Amino acid sequence: MAENLIQSYPENGVLKNPALPIVDQFGRSFTYLRIALNEQCNLRCIYCMPEEGIDFRTEDKLLTTDEICRFIEILSKMGISKIRFTGGEPLLRTDLSQLIHFANELDGVESIHLTTNGILLAKNINILKDAGLTGINISLDTLNAKKFKIITRREGLDLVLNGLEKAIKSGFHSVKVNVVAMRDFNNDELLDFIELTKNYNVTVRFIELMPFDSHQIWKTGKFYGADQIVSDLEKQVKKLIPIDGSKTEHYVFQVNDYEGKVAVIPAYSRSLCGECNRIRITADGKLLNCLYSQGETNLRDLMRSGATNEEIQIEIQQTMWNKLEDGWEAQHLGKDHRESMTQIGG
Ligand code: GTP
Ligand code: 5AD
Ligand code: SF4
Repeated sequence: MAENLIQSYPENGVLKNPALPIVDQFGRSFTYLRIALNEQCNLRCIYCMPEEGIDFRTEDKLLTTDEICRFIEILSKMGISKIRFTGGEPLLRTDLSQLIHFANELDGVESIHLTTNGILLAKNINILKDAGLTGINISLDTLNAKKFKIITRREGLDLVLNGLEKAIKSGFHSVKVNVVAMRDFNNDELLDFIELTKNYNVTVRFIELMPFDSHQIWKTGKFYGADQIVSDLEKQVKKLIPIDGSKTEHYVFQVNDYEGKVAVIPAYSRSLCGECNRIRITADGKLLNCLYSQGETNLRDLMRSGATNEEIQIEIQQTMWNKLEDGWEAQHLGKDHRESMTQIGG
């Protein structure tokens, strides 16, 4: 479809028709919105944030509830069918269930997801379900309480495991565990994580470290590449059956006769860019056309200056049209690195 659409875009790449869906010059179309609700977090994972936190943006810079609803509504009319709320930690935002409820009422929105560290999940699970949330991705890098404290610099493994159990038992359409895979930290836990998939329809995903933290932990020998993870899985597991997964999951398997799935996300090696269908809005309302992009389009100020929906739509189309071919190009164009993943929203 996207290839046909390219014919209807002007050759000079200047877009003037807000009714067109969102595509880029390489034929990708964008149907998945990731919107960060805050930068604050109740954990301090070593690959994400220093102990003292980062230079968090003040409240007035963050999108308000009404602004987020307006962006979601505009984007739902442009073909966005999947929405993910990220952060920071989105459960720290008190309007989360209101936002889910709003998104759930919109025509065209088929699924609404949350990426959370799981600390506040158990006590909010019913509210999230009632609001219309369909999927939950929980970040959890170890099943060992001592290691949990080292990686997150906080206590809380029991809370996260309780949240995971509640998510599984509450019948969400999709429940996933995100494990940032690191050498000499959790590479000895592959099998323990896989056991979570034995009796439950959960996807456990091993994610490559990315360079989005001020201490650049990924350069300290902890990087554990997707190919190596897959090869270690093949050595350690008797039967790995390849199956289909989401667009970030490039290697997806079912183990033995287990109920769930195991996947690897090449977040750094970026073999997923050709299929990218994602639009990102940061907590302070900047539109990013790639996770690795340094360039940002300030939709917040455009909206606050009184722009019409059509003007905002054109700005979104233009930014996405200009998306570079892959995350390598996007990164090489940048001048500095981000202080924390929370400034991007994952
Ligand atoms: P699903 O919709 O369930 O597949 O989730 P997701 O992988 O899109 O979202 P999630 O928030 O769980 O992110 C998991 C990991 O994938 C995080 O470390 C993200 O930063 C990484 N990731 C998500 N989107 C992209 C992307 O466009 N490029 C790269 N390189 N990594 C991404
Ligand atoms: N590298 C890889 N993944 C990261 N995440 C946060 N920071 C990094 C990083 N530097 C992950 C979180 C969460 C997801 C949104 O991004 O663990 O699961
Ligand atoms: Fe918080 Fe997630 Fe960053 Fe960890 S990775 S500090 S849980 S935002």
